Amino acid sequence: MTTPRPETLAKLTPVLTRRWISPDAWRIGSYENLDGYAALRKALKAHPDDLIQLIKDSGLRGRGGAGFPTGLKWGFIPQGDGKPHYLVVNADEGEPGTCKDLPLMTHDPHSLVEGVIIASYAIRANRAYIYIRGEAVHAARRLRNAVAEAQAKGYLGRNILGTGFDLELVVHSGAGAYICGEETALLDSLEGFRGQPRLRPPFPATHGLYASPTVVNNVGTIASVPYIVLGGADWWKSMGTEKSSGPMIYSLSGRIANPGQFECGLGVTLRELIELAGGMQPGHQLRFWTPGGSSTPLLTAEHLDVPLDFEGVAAAGSILGTTATQIFSDQDCPVYATYRWLEFYHHESCGKCTPCREGNYWMVRVYRRILAGQGTHEDLDTLLDTCDNILGRSFCGLGDGATSSVTSSLQYFKQDYLDYIEGRTAPKLSDKQLVGAH
Ligand SMILES: Cc1cc2nc3c(=O)[nH]c(=O)nc-3n(C[C@H](O)[C@H](O)[C@H](O)COP(=O)(O)O)c2cc1C
Ligand code: SF4
Repeated sequence: MTTPRPETLAKLTPVLTRRWISPDAWRIGSYENLDGYAALRKALKAHPDDLIQLIKDSGLRGRGGAGFPTGLKWGFIPQGDGKPHYLVVNADEGEPGTCKDLPLMTHDPHSLVEGVIIASYAIRANRAYIYIRGEAVHAARRLRNAVAEAQAKGYLGRNILGTGFDLELVVHSGAGAYICGEETALLDSLEGFRGQPRLRPPFPATHGLYASPTVVNNVGTIASVPYIVLGGADWWKSMGTEKSSGPMIYSLSGRIANPGQFECGLGVTLRELIELAGGMQPGHQLRFWTPGGSSTPLLTAEHLDVPLDFEGVAAAGSILGTTATQIFSDQDCPVYATYRWLEFYHHESCGKCTPCREGNYWMVRVYRRILAGQGTHEDLDTLLDTCDNILGRSFCGLGDGATSSVTSSLQYFKQDYLDYIEGRTAPKLSDKQLVGAH
């Protein structure tokens, strides 16, 4: 493991992660000793519209993958409509490689609870939900405990801190389906239906939970709010880049010495992140990587210096997504990695629309054939043709995301496919695993 240089270490900007190493950081006493709930006291003295303006001024963009401007989203909620308003926190975190929300909720659940209260006050919601992945039992337990602690201190419930503002916060555990991270499927699941995406428009801002105005935001988005309230929009914008402001938690996994979460200003490069993580594992050279989870097109060693912000990654032909960088080396096979991701998308496809349901089913079978040494040159055209029929033709982003690693691996690593097809690489799958491939 190599030691990062001081100038690279200076790239670390612990904001959302700064309490994680404090003893008992998840308890309300520790949280309050570290500025906890100071932002709430400040926010409740402000007019809700001024809070929405503050979030707009900060340039905060959603941390759930699409980077939509948060203040703008809050501003879409109609006011004075006489309907209940809801805030729903998306804590489903199912994107392969992504592990930023789970540690945040486990180590610092009160920052999310405080963010929920402030955001609900801003959009005039009296009921909020945190929809958390079913398997995340430990994080859900910590969250429920934090909610009870906040309630006991008068930060939640009726007449919060004597201001007349009421908020009930419910932690709801899902059943563990990737599609339930898609915001409209999440709302259906929360209402007790099978989690499948809804047709849009109408959008959740007017017809969300129980057909009422609803904001759906990611855990990291909402947990950023107390910091912006305390530090101000200019301080937030002093981190990151012009159009991608603030710090971001990058999850690093794969062939690096020290995998984990590294919080840096948006725009840090993979070269710098790998240095922070102690370098590549001994004997491994970087070959390909995902900038933001498996739904984002692969990048290669040529992209080590791409700024990892929304614009920089888009200019390099990929998507910033959830900043889940999965790092693969010269000892990993891009064809096999893509096949494993496709198995995931095929399994998680909700089946509502034909391109995603059928396309992923067939692509998995083509990959099995190639990896078993029985592929043909036409299979590569079939894969691209299938992706062409899924991308932009699916009902939701799951279908689009499934095509990312297929098209990008064929763009950068076609030779690896040809090596299987032309017999230069030994088959990775046996005839037994080929069942149903033809
Ligand atoms: C298949 C699929 C899965 C998703 N999973 C998540 C997730 O686990 N967490 C999340 O915050 N957003 C997820 N999203 C994005 C949400 O639909 C939505 O854009 C996000 O929650 C909005 O929050 P933000 O504006 O704070 O980023 C997913 C989208 C798709 C298409
Ligand atoms: S794209 Fe896939 S996950 Fe999304 S609605 Fe269609 S079948 Fe369901």
